[in-house]
Amino acid sequence: MKIAIMGAMPEEIAPILEKLGSYTTVRYAGNNYYEATYKGVDLVVAYSKIGKVFSTLTATIMIEHFGATKLLFSGVAGAICPTLKIGDLIVASKLAQHDLDITAFGHPFGYVPEGSIFIEADKEMIEMSKEVAKSMGKSVREGVIATGDQFIANEEKKNWIGATFGAHALEMEGGSVAVVCHALNVPFFKLRAISDVADMDASFNFDTFLETSAKESADFIMKMVQSIIENAK
Ligand code: ADE
Repeated sequence: MKIAIMGAMPEEIAPILEKLGSYTTVRYAGNNYYEATYKGVDLVVAYSKIGKVFSTLTATIMIEHFGATKLLFSGVAGAICPTLKIGDLIVASKLAQHDLDITAFGHPFGYVPEGSIFIEADKEMIEMSKEVAKSMGKSVREGVIATGDQFIANEEKKNWIGATFGAHALEMEGGSVAVVCHALNVPFFKLRAISDVADMDASFNFDTFLETSAKESADFIMKMVQSIIENAK
């Protein structure tokens, strides 16, 4: 077993690297990958840079070049569901690409031939996350996450994404990483802490809460990694 832990921004993996303490840095295809052994298990950690293209590249490299057999994503998201507040944690049940649009050919939003609108995350890790949450005295929501190459700071657009995909939160990498993991048969788990509510204050709130929300997510991810390792024994 080799576990990939991925984020999109430096702030999203910094708390993880801090927890690992020592690691080796490998430069590959224009990005840094951090390799470490944690409780006897090999890890590879990286941030991809923002968006679907960079996250696709990084997830593919973590699996195909570094040999990751499970992938966990940690980061922040904008809330769609009004009951999700800044700092709350959401685990993706399934993910979609909200900006994928060939509706001109009669297809639904988020769909291209031979693809599917939604890709489901690993059920075993989702179940495990409920136990982890309980042990930490935290509550974690499970919901649909919609991904696109747009920072959403507009109530109308946010509501459209919510209504079209039944999505509870939105971000810029989950859906593309899901495509990679699904194609390569690697179980994946996506966790996000809410940094903003994708409204007109979203960019201000994102800047304000990025670090604290990213840490919230990263702390949970490290507990998930511990739990995965313990369950594999
Ligand atoms: N990630 C965190 N907040 C976001 C937003 N409002 N739009 C897209 N991605 C995000």
